[in-house]
Amino acid sequence: MGLDLLVVGLGYVGLPLAREAIFGGMTTVGYDLNVDVVAGLNARRSHVGDIADSDIAEMLARGFRATAEDAGVGAPDTVVICVPTPLSAEGAPDLAAVRAAVGMVGRLLRAGMLVVLESTTYPGTTDEVVRPLLEEASGLTAGTDFSLAFSPERIDPGNPDFGLRNTPKIVGGQTPSCADVAMRFYGKLCDRVVRARSAREAEMAKLLENTYRHVNIALVNEMAIFCHELGVDLWDAIACAATKPFGFQAFWPGPGVGRHCIPIDPNYLSFKVRSLGYPFRIVELAQEINGRMPTYVVDRAAELLNGNSKPLNGARVLVLGVSYKRDVADQRESPAHVVGRKLRSRGAVVAYHDPRLTGWAIDGHAVRRADDLYREVAEADLVILLQDHSAYDLDRIARDARLVLDTRGRIAGPRVETL
Ligand SMILES: NC(=O)c1ccc[n+]([C@@H]2O[C@H](COP(=O)([O-])OP(=O)(O)OC[C@H]3O[C@@H](n4cnc5c(N)ncnc54)[C@H](O)[C@@H]3O)[C@@H](O)[C@H]2O)c1
Repeated sequence: MGLDLLVVGLGYVGLPLAREAIFGGMTTVGYDLNVDVVAGLNARRSHVGDIADSDIAEMLARGFRATAEDAGVGAPDTVVICVPTPLSAEGAPDLAAVRAAVGMVGRLLRAGMLVVLESTTYPGTTDEVVRPLLEEASGLTAGTDFSLAFSPERIDPGNPDFGLRNTPKIVGGQTPSCADVAMRFYGKLCDRVVRARSAREAEMAKLLENTYRHVNIALVNEMAIFCHELGVDLWDAIACAATKPFGFQAFWPGPGVGRHCIPIDPNYLSFKVRSLGYPFRIVELAQEINGRMPTYVVDRAAELLNGNSKPLNGARVLVLGVSYKRDVADQRESPAHVVGRKLRSRGAVVAYHDPRLTGWAIDGHAVRRADDLYREVAEADLVILLQDHSAYDLDRIARDARLVLDTRGRIAGPRVETL
């Protein structure tokens, strides 16, 4: 039997795509190098926060299967690559997973196939990295023998309103005919497909979106620091500014940025710009400002305790919400790690709570979880609210805690200080 779709990389991006495809009636196989991920999925276990075990069971019932074997992937009409694009230790783009995935796809490439890269990367990757590898491995030519496109994933984990289907999907083809084929494919999965001029513009559109957020978050984070000293409530100022019906979009300060889209992806663009011989200054500045926020949070925690005649050294500090954003279970690149590390290095006795996580470690050392949340809120010398998960009773925290540092601007009260 023919196979409509092979998804390569079954993480936060690939798995929702596979789900949408199989629920939309496409025969779908998922390929992932991680044998634990594959075994888990085939045993109906989801490792992705937004996808329930029951979804996996339903996918399997409709014929989905995951494999870690090259031989298990069959002969798909379309391959979508959703593998990680991290940074190397030196801070440069690390395309090793993309190259490895493309190498595998090159071996099974045949005339008429569509290959799409969804991993976030710098402009030119599809044309300069993916196309040559595919053509070399297969002896086929993109745009003539097979179709090649880039389509950025715009998923917003934890967002109950926007998913793959109702978020417009950008598609950029290696050639116009590649774009036609890719647009037809995504038209089956998404309500609206937007055509970019080429793969480069599609790659750049994704980085523009992420850089825009990065820079605007840095703007309000920097303002938060001096507004504290000026005695200005920045949250109130932002709420007032946001009443303007045009020309302003609200961004809010916080303890730092986490996961991939904000702290990492813009580096792909600044790396590319640096190859031209000059820096992308606004991104590098945003990186510096947002990167300092966790340390600033710890400085403010020490100041707050000090104002209440208590040193940070020896203080019992309860950190609430250690995932990288509200209402998700993903703790990768979360600013909470730096906050926790700095609190500990300054002598604080740290405990944490996160409704979505049952374990949290700093540099490999497990942190004690406050299972009896509201009792521990009342007993801690200081509560630091890092993520305002919707499970938290914020009024109760404001009422019961001895001292609160609220990095989200959500709580008010006599013993609460906002970042
Ligand atoms: N998570 C998000 O919210 C999000 C949003 C937009 C874009 N992206 C981008 O999408 C890409 C994937 O991100 P993610 O969050 O899904 O990553 P992830 O780490 O959750 O999942 C990636 C999966 O790919 C697998 N993998 C790695 N190398 C492989 C290979 N050679 N062959 C097959 N499988 C391989 C890994 O085992 C892992 O299961 C990244 O470029 C990321 O920047 C992510």
